[in-house]
Formats: sequence, structure tokens, C-alpha cells
Amino acid sequence: MKAQLEAIKSAAIAAVNAANDQDEIEALRVQYLGKKGELTAILKQMGSLSPEERPVMGQLVNEAKAAVESLIAEKTTAMKAKAQEEKLKAETIDITLPAKPVNKGKLHPLNTVLDDMIDIFVSMGFDVVDGPEVETDHYNFECLNVPADHPARDMQDTFYLGENLLLRTQTSAAQIRTMENRKPPIRVICPGRVFRADEVDATHSPVFHQIEGLVVDKGITMCDLKGVLEQFAQEIYGKDTQVKFRPSFFPFTEPSVEVDVTCSECGGKGCRVCKGSGWIEILGAGMVHPNVLRSCGIDPEEYSGFAFGIGLDRLTTTRYKISDIRLLFENDKRFLEQF
Ligand code: PHE
Repeated sequence: MKAQLEAIKSAAIAAVNAANDQDEIEALRVQYLGKKGELTAILKQMGSLSPEERPVMGQLVNEAKAAVESLIAEKTTAMKAKAQEEKLKAETIDITLPAKPVNKGKLHPLNTVLDDMIDIFVSMGFDVVDGPEVETDHYNFECLNVPADHPARDMQDTFYLGENLLLRTQTSAAQIRTMENRKPPIRVICPGRVFRADEVDATHSPVFHQIEGLVVDKGITMCDLKGVLEQFAQEIYGKDTQVKFRPSFFPFTEPSVEVDVTCSECGGKGCRVCKGSGWIEILGAGMVHPNVLRSCGIDPEEYSGFAFGIGLDRLTTTRYKISDIRLLFENDKRFLEQF
């Protein structure tokens, strides 16, 4: 019986050692340690032994069972660890692989320049206001001192949407809306799209952008206008930039000026960009006409103000040396990616 036990024990140990997976181990556990297992069966033969032999044999059987049990436990733990390791290995991500390229969006050059301009004017205490692109004749012309039969209407070829409805030709319409809604002191800029039925060429587009500026308060003079525009021009084009006022005409300002800055390309010496003059025209401006103040319920005897309208597209094309304004509106990725 002892020899039989030894044989079963060593067969069991060999089998467990040779097992390849947890199913095999489980089968071996049942085969040797289960209720009907071989080691259990040996215990049942104890009845044939003498009372002295029984405890000795019993102990041997228990030792054999314990040895097989602990080997099974050891093997199981090792197998579980191995299985876990294999699973993790299969799941690992190779972080050294090159990633798929992500296409990063960029700001349109018009937006970059506009953001810079807004920063400059906000730092001077201006608010940013918005106005509708579809305007009434009233806001776009009438209140701006341009009655229906005024020859100044010819200065701006207008897209009419109906008798009194049009696409705004200038952000100046926002002046009126602002003066109707706010009491002086007023300091606002209104950036936005404007529309004119112009002939399309390298410097003209039926859609373009303006930034209207408006300041109304007691004692505002042309000097304030020049100071603000000089500060603006120097921030945009550099410290040495000079600003020049040329007399001009706008129906809603009196006096009116056209404003030139020294050419940032040649510093004023004259070059291709400024067509040899050394100056580049960047905006129209002037002192708000008393009629305009009056039409908004502001007493021109008490208050005065200035307004200016900057062409954002011109500013952008000169900054980036873009030869054709139409490029700004075609949204060709190959063009936009360069900024
Ligand atoms: N609105 C004018 C234009 O589009 C520009 C301007 C604005 C002039 C404000 C004077 C004052 O031509």
C-alpha cells in the first residue's frame, strides 16, 4: 500500500508539473484529490490495515495529499500570473508609433489683424459694438446726413434689398445706433462686413471690412482724433510711423479728412507699395457733423465728437504683402495655410 501511495503521488506530481493550462490542472485535481480521486480512494482501503499501521498510513496519505495540493496551488498561481502577463502584453500600446497628423486650424489673416486692432482700441478705453449687416436706408444714409437726393449717395454703390432695406455700405450706420442707445461719453468701435456694388479687381471686392470708431463727449476736438489715430498707427506699424491728415469730404463729418500713414515698407522714402509717395491711405475720418448728432438727440452745442472708418482689408493686405484683395475671400486652403 505504501508503494502504491508513492506511485500515485509521484504520478500526480509529474502530471501536475507537465500540465499546460488551468483546465488540465483542474482535471488532475479531480483525478487525484476529488471525492472519487485516487488519493481519496487509498484512504478507503485503510480498513484492511492493523490499528497500529492505520495512523502511520493515514499520515502518509495526508502528507501526499498536502504535497499535491500545494503543488497545484503553486502551479495555478504561476499560470494565472503568466496569463495576466500575456494579456497585458497583447494590450500594450506602442507609444513610439508616429501619430496620425492632426490638422490644426488657424485664424484667418483678417481675424488676426482685427484682433490686434481691437486690442489696441480696447486698451484706449473703447467698447466693441456690433451692428446688423442688413440695414435700413434710415441708419445707413438718412441719419448720416445723406438724404435721398444727396449726390453723396453716388459715392457708395449700394445693394438694395427693397425700397428701404439694403446691405450696409459702411459701418458708420453703427454710429447712429450707438448714439441712439448710449449717452455721452461714448467711445466705441464697430468692426464688420460692408457691401458695395463696386467693380471687382485686385483692390476692390463687393464685400469688405471696416472698423468704425466713434467718440462723443464734451470738448472733443480734432487733436483728440489725431492723437488716437497716431497711437493706433504706431502700435500697428511701429513707433516711427507718422500720420498725415488730408482735407476730404464725407457727408457725416465736418471737417472731414483722409488719413495717410508713412509707408511701413520704405519708411516714407517712396517705393512700389506706396507708389513712390512715401504715404499710404488707411482711413477716412472727421468731426461728427452737427446734423448727425442732432438726428440722434445729442445737442451739438453741448457735445462734439469724432468718427473714423478704417479699411481692415487694406491693412491686412499691406501687413502680409498680399497682392490681391480677392485672395482674402476665396478661402483657398493653400493661401490660408501660409499665415
Ligand atoms: N464711412 C466712410 C466710408 O466708408 C468712412 C468714414 C467713417 C469717414 C467715419 C469718416 C468717418 O467711406
